[in-house]
Amino acid sequence: MTAPEEAVPRPNATPPLPIRLRPARPADVPALVGLMLRLKRLNEEFDPLLKVRDDAEAQARSVLEANLGDPKAVVLAAEGVGAEKEKVVGFVRALVRERPFYSPEWEGVIVDIYLLPLYRRRGVGEYVLREATAALKGKGAGVVTAEFPAQNEIASRFYAKRGFRPITAVHARSL
Ligand SMILES: CC(C)(COP(=O)(O)OP(=O)(O)OC[C@H]1O[C@@H](n2cnc3c(N)ncnc32)[C@H](O)[C@@H]1OP(=O)(O)O)[C@@H](O)C(=O)NCCC(=O)NCCS
Repeated sequence: MTAPEEAVPRPNATPPLPIRLRPARPADVPALVGLMLRLKRLNEEFDPLLKVRDDAEAQARSVLEANLGDPKAVVLAAEGVGAEKEKVVGFVRALVRERPFYSPEWEGVIVDIYLLPLYRRRGVGEYVLREATAALKGKGAGVVTAEFPAQNEIASRFYAKRGFRPITAVHARSL
């Protein structure tokens, strides 16, 4: 079988990845808003304290627009290949922020990572994580962290398998 030319080659004769990853651009914003809302709604399923706001769609648009113009942000879009070419099927959003008290001084935080269900469990997440990490390192990050709902065990397993471990915890109660 010939791999689609856009597919990312993988070592050891594993199937090529069904995506092409590239920096997100302004024209992607509507698609990215949709994916970001899916992720936030998924987070809501994990915890009532992550209830999605009524204006989340407008918020997603303005956050993404700000990130796309921010040199300290990384937003990568995963496009499908073949018939799905040019369809944005996943994304990762990450930010480089300063740690005023700790060394390494600059932290790359993966705040959102999302793939449409059909694209999961095929090594795409691992590839997206690796590329986002490289981009964060390129922007000066000396440590990479990931934020996700504590109850999201798939995310916990996904990151643990790639060497991440908890270093701080956010505990909450309603007021
Ligand atoms: C998290 C996510 C990006 C991982 O991408 P992926 O392409 O499925 O991950 P990979 O194929 O590279 O790696 C799979 C590994 O992740 C974990 N994992 C992924 N899906 C899993 C599932 N349904 N059950 C258990 N473990 C799972 C396992 O460690 C798995 O390794 P294994 O297949 O050897 O058991 C993707 O599942 C996703 O978009 N999920 C919904 C959004 C989300 O939860 N985002 C993270 C919080 S912000």
